[in-house]
Amino acid sequence: MSATEQANAEAPSAIAVSARALTRRYGAGDTAVDALRGVDLDIAEHKLVAIMGPSGSGKSTLMHLLAGLDRPTSGTVTVGDTELSTLSDSQLTLLRRSHIGFVFQFFNLLPMLNAEENVLLPLSIAGDKPDAGWVDELFDRVGLSQRRHHRPSELSGGEQQRVAIARALISRPTMLLADEPTGNLDSATSGGILALMRDSVDAYGQTTVMVTHDPRAAAVAHRVLFIADGLIVKELIDASAAQVLAVMGDISG
Ligand SMILES: Nc1ncnc2c1ncn2[C@@H]1O[C@H](COP(=O)(O)OP(=O)(O)OP(=O)(O)O)[C@@H](O)[C@H]1O
Ligand SMILES: [Mg+2]
Repeated sequence: MSATEQANAEAPSAIAVSARALTRRYGAGDTAVDALRGVDLDIAEHKLVAIMGPSGSGKSTLMHLLAGLDRPTSGTVTVGDTELSTLSDSQLTLLRRSHIGFVFQFFNLLPMLNAEENVLLPLSIAGDKPDAGWVDELFDRVGLSQRRHHRPSELSGGEQQRVAIARALISRPTMLLADEPTGNLDSATSGGILALMRDSVDAYGQTTVMVTHDPRAAAVAHRVLFIADGLIVKELIDASAAQVLAVMGDISG
């Protein structure tokens, strides 16, 4: 082990995002739904964390709160040194723009723009100029150097999701959040996207939190968190797919 590796192994890792006593209630009165019921969470920098759990358990709600796309009913989310509740809506937008990338299940690409224009869109909106070398590298990383001028309708589902991942990474976010990025893809394509999520953590170091139902996520994630009925009920570190399947069986009852 080199001196640097030793120092890294001993230093406690910095926290990229944390949540304390996080709750989210939708609606009010008799029909209120408590989607999150007190989540405490610390996610270290430079890690890939998978979130798994039954439908309706609160996974998307948690992702939206961590991304600052929604506000909690109570409790706090802290990204880096910033507690999100202290920010106005416009400050939150700026923080999201510079620090957070989001990948959706249904890609959410703009159909009239080609792959490259979709990837560059966050920069265009922020009024920033793209760095040509970085754009080339990203297209290379996601394996779409030959598809830059294709529109979404001319790309496969897996290719569209690769475009969406490149778009989320273009601003060099400190955190990438992905809500079922493989949920709309076949098994082989899904495996490729999971590998890309891990590869981009190793290459660029952004903390990544990913909701998935694919037990192969275990093979790529540093940590798997299981959520059931609005609470984190279990976690595994460096788990196998078999271990993940066993826990999923337990918590789906
Ligand atoms: N906007 C909303 N208004 C009312 N209830 C909501 C709203 N969004 C989510 N819910 C409810 O909150 C609970 C958690 O929903 P959430 O979308 O976080 O689940 P999920 O774990 O992402 O499920 P899935 O795996 O199906 O995507 C569910 O009971 C859902 O019906
Ligand atoms: Mg969901």
